[in-house]
Amino acid sequence: ATVHDQKLMRGEGGELHQLAEGDMPVLTTAQGGPVSDDQNSLKIGARGPTALEDFHFREKIFHFDHERIPERVVHARGYGAHGYFETYDSLAKYTRADIFQRAGEKTPAFVRFSTVAGSKGSVDLARDVRGFAVKLYTQEGNWDIVGNNIPVFFIQDAIKFPDLVHAVKEEPDRAFPQAQSAHDNFWDFISLTPESMHMIMWVMSDRAIPRSFRFMEGFGVHTFRLLNAKDESTFVKFHWKPKLGLQSVAWNEAVKINGADPDFHRRDLWDSIQAGNFPEWELQLQLFDQEFADRFDFDVLDATKLIPEEILAPIPVGRLVLDRMPDNFFAETEQVAFMTQNVPPGIDFSNDPLLQGRNFSYLDTQLKRLGGPNFTHIPINAPKCPFHHFQQDGHMAMRNPVGRVNYRPNSFGEGPRESPQRGFRSFAEAEEGPKQRIRAESFADHYSQARQFYVSQTPTEQGHIAAALTFELSKVQTPVIRERMVAHLLNIDDGLAQKVGGDLGLKAMPKPADAAVATRQDLSAAPSLSILAN
Ligand code: HEM
Repeated sequence: ATVHDQKLMRGEGGELHQLAEGDMPVLTTAQGGPVSDDQNSLKIGARGPTALEDFHFREKIFHFDHERIPERVVHARGYGAHGYFETYDSLAKYTRADIFQRAGEKTPAFVRFSTVAGSKGSVDLARDVRGFAVKLYTQEGNWDIVGNNIPVFFIQDAIKFPDLVHAVKEEPDRAFPQAQSAHDNFWDFISLTPESMHMIMWVMSDRAIPRSFRFMEGFGVHTFRLLNAKDESTFVKFHWKPKLGLQSVAWNEAVKINGADPDFHRRDLWDSIQAGNFPEWELQLQLFDQEFADRFDFDVLDATKLIPEEILAPIPVGRLVLDRMPDNFFAETEQVAFMTQNVPPGIDFSNDPLLQGRNFSYLDTQLKRLGGPNFTHIPINAPKCPFHHFQQDGHMAMRNPVGRVNYRPNSFGEGPRESPQRGFRSFAEAEEGPKQRIRAESFADHYSQARQFYVSQTPTEQGHIAAALTFELSKVQTPVIRERMVAHLLNIDDGLAQKVGGDLGLKAMPKPADAAVATRQDLSAAPSLSILAN
């Protein structure tokens, strides 16, 4: 029905449209003013100049000028989808997290997959780690599992993250490579960072070139804690297992796909969800206690180590189904803000120094990237449970406390109150010790799990690792960096080292890297020219 003066029309949802001539809605400015001509700026005379008072022109250009927000400093290229998490059974014995209390409960979810090193417009099939970030909109707040498709990480302490990322991304003078790790800076840093060797084995393996997002595993990487209603703690590692199984492409396939279709992974996710082939993952938990953790030579707080699934079988606890693409890529996939510190009551952190640092970094980076403190007002980041707090104002505030009272305690009996019973409680771990900059001795072994991964691979897969290392290191211009890497490989697997060293044409094999030096974490003492024979 048309209402007053034929200028307004009600749409299907009952909303009012201003009408142009005919039945189309009229184009308006962002202030709602109808526009008469969107193709010609306001000019004095037929040939200009353009008048400064042309508010429509200025608004249109101003808004366009501000369309871009900073891309993520890492994981810039990503692709997301909506879905749900379904809980298999109550886990009340281990955790009071609301999401794990009732069998069959469905919790809305949003997942963003990403590459790490490349910029927003880079190719999908780069040899790289893939981000696997899951936001679960639970009834007691958003829970983000900000994971990767590889269960370990390059570094043990978050303070090294800026160096790692500077080294992996494009070199600052030449601004390449944009999406691949084959360059001197990256391999220089890696060769001086022995703790990265386990991760490097994974990154040089087929894991780093997945066939599609649907065929990837996901890992929370760190050890976290589950806390039950009695505040009893169980350590936990989170694993996502793809229903379709794990599949990768070969390197020569990846190179061709990148040339023919740099959007291969995002197209695959879009096509399969639009066709009703909803990808699915099972959430599996490795659960253990302190006594179990103490039996290992390595430290469960060290993100460069994993607990082999043969030793501790993961338990299936629910499934994640992705069944809907975003309506708008920018509003949802670009503006979604994942943060490791988003945990509901019943989930808690461990002292992993990488996780502790991440818990600072993500809030800080969202403030910058999303332009202020109110990024939870963006629908994709807003909780889907009731929420009440006294935060107010700031850039882009969409909602403020209602009424007179915006503080507590107050005498008016208004506003929300804290709940010792329902609220988040940290595990009361007893801590003591001298304040110092140090790495624990229990973080010192950098080669055993690298070897464990390499020998777990089939001969074909081992061949791919050797070929990837040879290809990557052959692009490195500085000979000492290549030799330093081969010196590390000698501590991982002699056959691998001989193969890579031979294929690189090294004149002489270096001595194995000094594991004792490597564990000191002191770059000035790191393997240098002196590790070379003679
Ligand atoms: C982004 C995972 C270590 C800082 C991301 C994303 C993932 C991720 C999946 C992309 C989130 C998205 O899709 O929007 C991981 C994993 C790590 C790790 C699994 C180690 C286990 C770190 C560390 C830091 C860090 C140590 C800093 C100290 C960042 C930042 C972003 C990011 C600043 C960009 C966030 C944004 O702009 O939205 N990380 N990360 N990450 N990560 Fe990490």
